[in-house]
Amino acid sequence: MTKYNVIFVLGGPGAGKGTQCEYIVRDFGYVHLSAGDLLREERQRPGSQFGEEIEGHIKNGTIVPVQITCSLLKRAMEKSGKDRFLIDGFPRNRDNLDGWNKEMSDVAKVIRVLFFNCSEQVCVERCLSRGKTSGRTDDNEESLKKRIKTYTESTMEIIEQFRKLNLVSEIHAEKSPEEVFEEVKKVLNELN
Ligand code: C5P
Ligand code: MG
Repeated sequence: MTKYNVIFVLGGPGAGKGTQCEYIVRDFGYVHLSAGDLLREERQRPGSQFGEEIEGHIKNGTIVPVQITCSLLKRAMEKSGKDRFLIDGFPRNRDNLDGWNKEMSDVAKVIRVLFFNCSEQVCVERCLSRGKTSGRTDDNEESLKKRIKTYTESTMEIIEQFRKLNLVSEIHAEKSPEEVFEEVKKVLNELN
């Protein structure tokens, strides 16, 4: 039985996924779950057996095994008591998608994929400027190169797969947050 409606939010590092999700939460009342945030939280949790493994992947821009990420997502979904979710930064590769389908396809329906399309140059500029204050261990030039590589080599094909299912709404993500949100609103209004 389907309990949850899910919107996946994808795009390169710095494409504005998190920012747009905040706006969507404010105006449309979904619950925002960022896979990256959940992994960073788990990394910091005292006694976590996955802390080092997660940090290794984050620094390297590679993708944490889905068993870890999907169980964090599932637990957060259950704990929220809500039924409409924006899942940000997931699924990022084939392993993520396969794991999700195995674990969640009975209970969760993917109703849309928001794809924030942004040039590499703008993505890099945004992440480097965020890096001045974010405290993130991966908002630096070296990690960014690896994150972009992962995005082009592993995430793009997942987006293409959703596109074939007619689930993708592509958003031009280079304008200001407010302008980008105008496009996002149109998509969400059609869902409601
Ligand atoms: O989405 P965000 O930029 O916060 O992700 C930061 C890092 O977290 C990624 O580069 C990756 O190492 C890790 N991550 C992951 N699997 C996901 C989402 C994020 O391994 N589905
Ligand atoms: Mg984010």
